[in-house]
Parts: sequence; C-alpha cells; structure tokens
Amino acid sequence: ASLTDQLMAEVQPALTTSGGKVTVVGVGQVGMACAFSLLTQHICSELALVDVMPDKLRGEMMDLQHGLTFLRNVKIEASTDYACSAGSRLCIVTAGARQREGESRLSLVQRNVDIFKGIIPNLVKHSPNCILLVVSNPVDIMTYVTWKLSGLPKNRVIGSGTNLDSSRFRFHLSQKLNVAPSSCHGWIIGEHGDSSVPVWSGVNIAGVRLRDLNPLVGTAEDPEKYNEMHKEVVNSAYEIIKLKGYTSWAIGLSVASLVSSIMKNTRSCYAVSVAVQGYHTIDKDVFLSLPVVLGENGVTHIIKQTLTEAEIKQLKSSADTLWDVQAGIKF
Ligand code: NAI
Ligand code: LAC
Repeated sequence: ASLTDQLMAEVQPALTTSGGKVTVVGVGQVGMACAFSLLTQHICSELALVDVMPDKLRGEMMDLQHGLTFLRNVKIEASTDYACSAGSRLCIVTAGARQREGESRLSLVQRNVDIFKGIIPNLVKHSPNCILLVVSNPVDIMTYVTWKLSGLPKNRVIGSGTNLDSSRFRFHLSQKLNVAPSSCHGWIIGEHGDSSVPVWSGVNIAGVRLRDLNPLVGTAEDPEKYNEMHKEVVNSAYEIIKLKGYTSWAIGLSVASLVSSIMKNTRSCYAVSVAVQGYHTIDKDVFLSLPVVLGENGVTHIIKQTLTEAEIKQLKSSADTLWDVQAGIKF
C-alpha cells in the first residue's frame, strides 16, 4: 500500500475545486501585487495565474507556493491556457501595456483593447458566472470594453476605478490631520486619473464635515490649501512612475479590499468604476467611479451622493471625455 494509504483512510473524495477561486490575468507588477495581497489577507482558497509568458508564470507560481507554509493552504496554479481559470468566482485583469514616464493612461487604450479581445471571451468561456474586475488602464474605458467583450450584465463588470485615488486622498488627509486614513472619510469619484472629482462637500471625520468648519476647504481660496491634496492625488502615478517605473503596492491592496468584499459578501462601500448612465444627469454610456455596495453578486447598489453643482459638472465633463475616447475604439 502507498504511504498515503498507510497514513490515512479516505472517508470521502476531497473536493477538487472550492467556491473561493480567483484568477489574476497578467503576472506583472500589478498582477503580482494583487496576488500577494490576496494570499496574505486570506481572501481566496484557490488562485489561478494567467499570462502569455510561461516561464514568468511558472516562476511566480512556484515562488508563491513556497510561502504557503506561512499562510493558509491555497491551491495555486498558473498557465497560458485559460482552462486553468475555470470555475473562478472572480477574475482580475491586469494584463496590458502601462504608461511610460509622462504618458497619460488614455494613450494606452487601443493597445489594451487589442489585448483584451484575446482575454475577456476566454475568461467568460471558462467561468460564465464570474465577476470581472478590471485594473488595466485606462481602467474606466477598459471596464466598458470588458463589458462589451464579455456579454455579462453590467453589475458583474467592475473597474478598480477611484478606490485607489480615494485611498491616496485619505492618506493626504491623514497626514494633515494626524488621523488614520481609514478614519478620514474622503471620496474621489469620476475618472481614475486626470479628471477625477474630489467630493469635498462630503469629506468628514467622525461625521464632522470639513466644509462646515471651513466653507473654503478644497477651494483655491482655502488659506490652508487643502485643495493641493487632490492635485497630489492626480499627480501620484506620474510621480511614482518617474521614481520607480510603475505603481503596484497600493493598487494591489486596493484590489484586495474589493475582492474581499465580493468574496465574503461583506457589502462594503467602495468608489469603483461602474455603469453610470442615468446617475447625476450623466447621459453617456460610460463607466466611471461612484460609491457602490459590493457583494458576492457584484454591484448591488449605487450610493446616491449629494453633490454640488460644480461636482456634477466635473463628473459630466469626465463622462464626455471618456465617451469621446470610446467612440474611437476599434473593437
Ligand atoms: P507589467 O508590464 O508589469 O505587466 C503586464 C503583464 O501583462 C505582463 O506580465 C504581460 O506579459 C501581460 N500581458 C501582456 N499581454 C497579455 C495578454 N495578451 N494576455 C495575458 N497577459 C498579457 O505592467 P503592470 O505594471 O503590471 O501594469 C499592468 C496594467 O495595470 C497597466 O495597464 C497599468 O497601467 C495598469 N495599472 C492600473 C492601475 C489602476 O489604478 N487601475 C494602477 C497601476 C497600474
Ligand atoms: C495609478 C496608475 C498607474 O497608479 O493608474 O494610478
């Protein structure tokens, strides 16, 4: 008899798959930051890695597997064949080109659309009931493209959106106020990037709105220049890309927070890229970030924020910009 048979008696066959499978497509800087965050926060019970580079895939898989002793047991597999993604609850797409120094996210669009044509249909073929979480840039447009290519309902196609911008914004608030970022309630909505919208009218600590304390906060007339924080948020990626060539850790942690809310049905609120036509008088079929409730079936509710006229105007301008770029996409 084999050692296994001598060691243990089978009571029933072990399951070959679980309900907690997540696929990450793209094992570059962002994909691996997402994968590492998922594993260290015990968010998935199975992890599949997909890319076009077989050696990189195998190397990353082995390197993660060798750390499992220090984590909970997760089945980790990797392949250039999308069959390895089968049965995923959620697929995270980080594949594609990234900005070079000084390059805008929007300039990546056609390159990444062409890449997505070979990814999205394959993911849906092997996991028809999955939720798709798009990270590749320009993320709002790539989320729209993913929805188009996938044929899935809009509430199962989500972009990481301004969850990252909001996290950067909260960090800057925390530095100014010496309060933990998680207690600095500040939301950035709209486009992930150059035209994002800080909802200054809602920024609060423990329910105390900064605008009630200083009506000028967030405006150019503010003597304490809190408005500079949003400029720093918008410039973050350009600065980090100039310094280290790419961004990865904050987006990896940001994605893990979204995946956790979905996989564990915690129904937490995050600013992520969703179909916004009809909200805040937006009349274009685009994806932009608004605060939503995330559960295991994806977006279940969109929070109807009270926005100022100026904030709505900025949001609609974002929508028009994306609509124009979308019009030029060759599917
Ligand atoms: P990277 O170059 O390190 O990794 C990209 C990966 O995609 C590579 O491993 C490459 O082999 C893979 N890939 C390329 N074509 C593929 C295909 N057809 N199928 C499967 N995999 C393919 O780039 P990085 O730094 O990981 O960035 C990835 C994307 O994430 C970029 O578009 C970047 O702009 C975006 N990003 C988005 C953020 C957000 O907040 N939404 C934040 C940071 C990056
Ligand atoms: C960011 C870019 C890369 O880090 O999307 O915000």
